[in-house]
Amino acid sequence: MTAKDRSGFVLHGAVVYSKDKDKLICFDDAYAVSLDGISEGVFPFLPEEYKELPLIETGGKLIIPGFTDLHIHAPQYQFRGNGMDIELLPWLETYTFPEEARYSDLSYAERAYKIFAEELKNGATVRASVFATSHTGATLRLMELLEESGLVTLVGRVNMDRNVPDYYVEETEASISGTEEWLREAEKKGFSRTRPVITPRFTPSCSRELMTGLKKLAERYAAPVQSHLSENLSEIEWVHKLEPDTSCYADSYVKAGIMNKGIPCIMAHCVWSDEKEQEILKDNNVFIAHCPDSNTNLSSGAAPVKCYLEKGMNVGLATDVAGGHTASMINAIRSAIQVSKLRNRLYDRDTKALTFEEAFYMATKGGGAFFGKAGSFDKGYSFDALILDDLSIPTAREDLSAKERAERFIYLGDDRYISGKIVAGKRIR
Ligand code: GUN
Ligand code: FE
Repeated sequence: MTAKDRSGFVLHGAVVYSKDKDKLICFDDAYAVSLDGISEGVFPFLPEEYKELPLIETGGKLIIPGFTDLHIHAPQYQFRGNGMDIELLPWLETYTFPEEARYSDLSYAERAYKIFAEELKNGATVRASVFATSHTGATLRLMELLEESGLVTLVGRVNMDRNVPDYYVEETEASISGTEEWLREAEKKGFSRTRPVITPRFTPSCSRELMTGLKKLAERYAAPVQSHLSENLSEIEWVHKLEPDTSCYADSYVKAGIMNKGIPCIMAHCVWSDEKEQEILKDNNVFIAHCPDSNTNLSSGAAPVKCYLEKGMNVGLATDVAGGHTASMINAIRSAIQVSKLRNRLYDRDTKALTFEEAFYMATKGGGAFFGKAGSFDKGYSFDALILDDLSIPTAREDLSAKERAERFIYLGDDRYISGKIVAGKRIR
């Protein structure tokens, strides 16, 4: 079968993508080829075999892989940009739990999740791992809306059986059986790009019995797991009190069996993970979702992500809306670099600041790896792309390199400069 008999196209423009954490591949003028939703690679001259595929001329626009948001709370989208005056634990009680409880009302969920799915579709994110609430109906509806959006997502019905207000907490058994029912219902929907992810909120709100039950579901339904870890100092102290037999916060997940090599796992934050905890994360192949805007807004701290990258740990970037005030991954990349510079300058001279290459990598290939081969134009990767009209950000310079354009877009750009978006070879805007 020749290329022309298959479903594909060629994008022509400037191209930038990550080879690895230290290396960007940059072309001022090149052809990116998609066949059956998979990248064939990027070429300075179009190879003969692809010449009969439809050619999309971007007029010199910048083409990059889309971003993976490794941690975002859909039901918190409606209060983004509010409630930035307190730290994590009072923030949950004051703003977050009351808002999430509203999703028992399906008509509110419908309105709110429609806005969320539409905004995510129009932004720079192509893949995301999403927290919902503990309401099965609303969570299924969110999954339908995300499926329709064309984005590739993991969505989790949230579990909590302790230390949560009466109006929002569940009994342990109800939380486990409700989760199984949700997994069955989600399976019946036959989604092609929306998958469930088991979601114990965090150790303070999940008993070991609950987490052990969820671990069994993760195994039975071959679902990954997502949660929070070592975000805030008061939270960590609380975990030590709640789980006295654990050696560190991560050990509470290990002891429940839910953090183990056999279950793909995302842990958001890891701001305060010490060497011992880092070893546990590395041994269990955990993906760290670094959320610089949230860590700043909730006064959580500045995570030593450069050190995680240098140790070869899996790190992606995330917005953590509404701890993060915006779902813009463009912002997250910029903030990751800025926060790492403050950490280095103010109190940790040993941990160097992130480079642009590293931050771009975390937002693309780093986090994308949780979804398989995603976040790059290397041959064999899912063809996810953003077409950016970055040159409409005014400049007199006509000699900007592709790399300079990408860096400038991250610092100066926003969603308004996205003129095309492709996910797994399908144009969604
Ligand atoms: N820890 C437990 N729940 C949450 C949440 O909703 N947001 C953040 N940032 N941290 C959490
Ligand atoms: Fe979070």
